Amino acid sequence: MCGVVGYTGTRQASEWLLDALQTLEYRGYDSAGVQVVSPSGNLHGVKCAGRVAHLRERASVANLNGTCGIGHTRWATHGAPTDRNAHPHLDCRGRIAIVHNGIIENYQQLKRQLMMSGHTFSSDTDSEVVAHLIEDAWAGPASGNLALAVRNACDRLEGSWALAVVCADAPGTLVVTRNGSPLVVASTEDGAYVASDVMPLASVTSRVVQLQDRDVATLSPDGSIAISDRDGRVVEHPTAITIDWDASAATLGGYSDFMAKEITEQPEAIERLLSGRLGEHGIELDELTLTKAELASVRHVVIIACGTSYHAGLAAKSAIERWARVPVSVEYASEFNYDEEYIVDDNTMCVIITQSGETADTLTAARRMKGMGCNVFAITNVLGSTAARESDGTLYVQAGPEVAVASTKAYTAQMVASYLLALRLALAKGCMTREEVVKHFHDLERIPDLMREVLKRRWQDKQAVRFFRNKTSSLYLGRNVNSATAFEGALKLKEISYLHAEAYPAGEMKHGPIALIEGGFPVVVVVPADHVHDKTVSNIQECLARGAAVIAVATDGDERVAKLCSEVLWVPRCPNELIVPAVSVLHLQMLARYVARDRGYDVDKPRNLAKSVTVE
Ligand code: M6R
Repeated sequence: MCGVVGYTGTRQASEWLLDALQTLEYRGYDSAGVQVVSPSGNLHGVKCAGRVAHLRERASVANLNGTCGIGHTRWATHGAPTDRNAHPHLDCRGRIAIVHNGIIENYQQLKRQLMMSGHTFSSDTDSEVVAHLIEDAWAGPASGNLALAVRNACDRLEGSWALAVVCADAPGTLVVTRNGSPLVVASTEDGAYVASDVMPLASVTSRVVQLQDRDVATLSPDGSIAISDRDGRVVEHPTAITIDWDASAATLGGYSDFMAKEITEQPEAIERLLSGRLGEHGIELDELTLTKAELASVRHVVIIACGTSYHAGLAAKSAIERWARVPVSVEYASEFNYDEEYIVDDNTMCVIITQSGETADTLTAARRMKGMGCNVFAITNVLGSTAARESDGTLYVQAGPEVAVASTKAYTAQMVASYLLALRLALAKGCMTREEVVKHFHDLERIPDLMREVLKRRWQDKQAVRFFRNKTSSLYLGRNVNSATAFEGALKLKEISYLHAEAYPAGEMKHGPIALIEGGFPVVVVVPADHVHDKTVSNIQECLARGAAVIAVATDGDERVAKLCSEVLWVPRCPNELIVPAVSVLHLQMLARYVARDRGYDVDKPRNLAKSVTVE
């Protein structure tokens, strides 16, 4: 969602701000803008609907001379994605500029009050009230103290925010604060930086500080950062974290798009995740803060997530129930948050799965679970993310930065991470011996090579694209753990090709979706060599009998499927049924990408979507 950046120091601010906004493009946005404080003590800026490339063109002919400034990519919530609603927003005098990520829930009431006291508004956004509130504070007791003016203004806000503020009357000073929306600051020799996440900062430093909710930080041109907490107390030694990604990890490196790169990176991601996890006593998972006895007493696991991470949760359910014999509920965070009667007890463990670690719905759910007394374990990809900081334990999946909005490598890494948790639980509960755990772990270690084999077969996915040409809808089917694969495959197709895809557990098809099928209707069926193979083959026959164009995802050597289906995406034989989803989904990721490209779409930045959904 919205991206916030800011800089004060010795270099030209607009150069870094524009580069940083480009790096944040992956978060999803529809307009962008920058504002700098000029050496003569005035604000100059440009903003527009559309891409950062467009903003760059405008910036190149504008006077953006200045070494302190802020920038923004906006994902519209209040007010259409237009030039006028793009950030930064200014106060009435044009002396204070703000950029904001989040939602000001009481903005209508504040706007009414501000207008009654003479303020004039230039946009339809909720964010603009912040500029006017700071204007009032600056004109009052906080005059001359931008940090205090920002703090006083925030005291009147309800909702969520990450804010960066500059003032023409305080040249060189950049004030930032957050509540519920992420913000990271960094101090370097050439100045101080702020951004919504670590990606734009990777090019300038490897040490960053995550601000806590209600912290207010004042950034100065000498690179110093003064932070005070929610009570106004100075934060003496803010904890810095080291970014373990080099800046090149977020560049295309010869690929045509990030999705292609990230699909290809999956084998290495799984190798990193598994490295060092097998120890003397089984699976090494020190990130779990539960003792062995506490783990042994877990009687119910509740997995909470959204989107693709939810699908990883479905696979996790199969693994935990099969290996550790613990019942698992998988909940959509947005649904869970409004289920007032949700039942947990002392033996319930909560697992949240979130690639970004910043998804508002998932964070709300985790806080609610903690409030109900549950131990919350996070599986995430982003170091120091809010999910990681607020959970009792965190397992980083180490997939590396995922830039394409459609999640691929984080999905398989999250799934395999949850399998580690399942094995750890199985051992603690005495459902498996160490030898059995070791055997399963070695099976997991085979995933990278199995993935490499599937990647070599991408021509099969390219060939299957013809089934989707001139179509408006499709159906994805799978059984048991591979219903998760079907759900994920359909989500990928929808997200980037804008082609409707309905996913169903294969056996449910006859209870409704079968009515969709007519001559040439594309149906993707995940039909590996597993204990439900015969049943799924019957479903293929039901589809074919109605004229469907079936694309099967099947195990090498499956003669029955080969005879039935003209198009098969072949998957090498996997050592265990639970491994299949992590391997077969690569075909569905590649298929979605090829279909989207065939339709002429930008696979990395699908319309309307944001990489990290930081509002409810
Ligand atoms: O960062 P998270 O894993 O919490 O994000 C959850 C969903 O928003 C995300 O998986 C979304 O569905 C992706 N666009 C999937 O490709």
